[in-house]
Amino acid sequence: MARNPGRIETLYPTLIYRADGAGSQRLNRDLAETAWQLARDDKAGRRWCLQHGYVGYTSYASKSDLAARHAAFARLERIIGRHAAEYARALQWDLRGGKPICDSLWVNILPEGGSHTSHLHTNSVISGTYYVAVPEGSGALVFEDPRHAMQMAAPPRKANAPRAMQTYVSIEPEAGTLLLWESWLRHEVALNRANAARISVSFNMVIG
Ligand code: NI
Repeated sequence: MARNPGRIETLYPTLIYRADGAGSQRLNRDLAETAWQLARDDKAGRRWCLQHGYVGYTSYASKSDLAARHAAFARLERIIGRHAAEYARALQWDLRGGKPICDSLWVNILPEGGSHTSHLHTNSVISGTYYVAVPEGSGALVFEDPRHAMQMAAPPRKANAPRAMQTYVSIEPEAGTLLLWESWLRHEVALNRANAARISVSFNMVIG
């Protein structure tokens, strides 16, 4: 060690918000029932999934205003709003009287073998996912260091580096878990290895 070691100051943290038990089992049952109904009845959505190689069903391209159509989704949207307000406080955002509101909200049914490759959510400030049904082994959400592109010549990090210093960080949700992150943060949905579908609701928020 150096004779007179310097100090380290950590700047620009990336905040991920997690709330377990954000929604009740009753809410999850209602959401799951509506999700399966949509998967059965939403022909435009099913066609989009087929054309875009989405294994399973997502209402992303066909019905992204679920809160206006179904009471269970309206209930979920209110829960999300309360947590997002707390997250915005943690981010020290000066909202000038505004608050984070859902701009779009859609449901995903991801069967065994389904995954979602690395992406970010444009045109929004907060994105997130609420987990309705998470069978054992149905996969994690994996976040990627947003400075990755600036690290071309940097050595890789040690395998046993602290979690906050890892390049890829995996989060294992359970039914009722709500995750929020800033929309620019790249993430992917790991392969579902369970023999049952994972049901989740994803959303984008703006300040309104
Ligand atoms: Ni996403």
